[in-house]
Amino acid sequence: MADNSENKVEPPSRQYPDPAVKLKKEVGTTGHSWDGIEEYDNPMPRWWVWIFIITIIWSVGYWVAYPAWPGIQSATSGVLGYSSRADVANELAEFEARNESFFVALVDTDLEDIRADDELQRFAVNAGGSVFRAQCSQCHGTGGAGVQASGFPNLLDDDWLWGGTMEDIHETIRYGIRNEDYPEARWSEMPAFGQDGLLDDEEIDQVVNYVLSLSGSDHDSALADAGAENFEINCASCHGDGGEGDYFIGAPALNNQVWLYGGSPEAIRHSIYYSRFGVMPGFANRLRDAEIRAVAAYVHQLGGGQ
Ligand code: HEC
Ligand code: HEC
Repeated sequence: MADNSENKVEPPSRQYPDPAVKLKKEVGTTGHSWDGIEEYDNPMPRWWVWIFIITIIWSVGYWVAYPAWPGIQSATSGVLGYSSRADVANELAEFEARNESFFVALVDTDLEDIRADDELQRFAVNAGGSVFRAQCSQCHGTGGAGVQASGFPNLLDDDWLWGGTMEDIHETIRYGIRNEDYPEARWSEMPAFGQDGLLDDEEIDQVVNYVLSLSGSDHDSALADAGAENFEINCASCHGDGGEGDYFIGAPALNNQVWLYGGSPEAIRHSIYYSRFGVMPGFANRLRDAEIRAVAAYVHQLGGGQ
């Protein structure tokens, strides 16, 4: 075997320079040194610098065009005159302008004719529903079912104190009931028969049983018979001979099972002994007439409208 060691070609030397040394030479350092750790002085990437410059130019344009610098009273307004508040006001105005024709029509249309106009009625019920939720539901309940036996009447049924036509309902809402705010408020006052000594305890017991008998509720017939005369003398003028009630003075019907303050003997006794005097505020000063008409239409269509 030939010794060809002489022909052997040595590979070229791979003596690369230490990369760290090379970088150090080209870039240089900022001269800062912390415990021997030095900081290279690399330039920012070009693309980054350009974006940075563009954002600065953009922001200057933005300051000029839009509200930007806060002052003591308000911010600089910008040459475009933009304001988010004005934006909202515009949107609201647009919305109101769209509804305005309906509000005008509501006021111009006879109360009884509103429901004949499908589109107007739909608008009235929607607008009235939102008025109802904001102004009425705390007393009458979100759905208008009232709060049973606590004097807030159910508005879903066809049992009315003051009448269930559009005119009646509108009037009730406009001026309210037994309040001091409107001289036109609906008004009536049942005497406090016990407290004021108009009837003694025995007579009241008799009349309670007579009232119970009017609606076919459980009662003592002997006491009821004895109470008939006192009912006719003291009560029939408001509640009617048969207890049918009277819209004109807001006297509830006593001949059905719908009770404003409760139909138990105790609740009825309380009504007669102390009287109740339910109060509702009027809305003539708080709502536009169109809104009152809308909420009247809403109440009217809840189920009991006449
Ligand atoms: C502070 C409580 C209260 C608020 C708020 C209130 N009501 Fe009343 N409402 C009453 C009371 C109490 C009565 C019954 C008064 C009575 O005994 O005659 C009543 C009676 C009524 C009646 C008469 C019902 C009938 O059988 O004749 C209507 C209709 C009515 N309310 C509608 C409304 C509408 C609509 C609103 C909102 C715009 C409203 N109420 C807001 C307390 C309230
Ligand atoms: C001046 C008219 C008037 C007279 C007289 C009167 N009432 Fe009333 N009564 C009312 C009114 C109005 C109410 C509605 C309650 C209120 O004040 O909020 C009422 C309510 C009642 C209630 C409560 C009804 C319910 O649904 O909870 C009973 C019961 C009642 N009266 C019985 C009588 C009896 C019995 C007499 C006679 C002894 C009598 N009333 C005399 C006007 C009258």
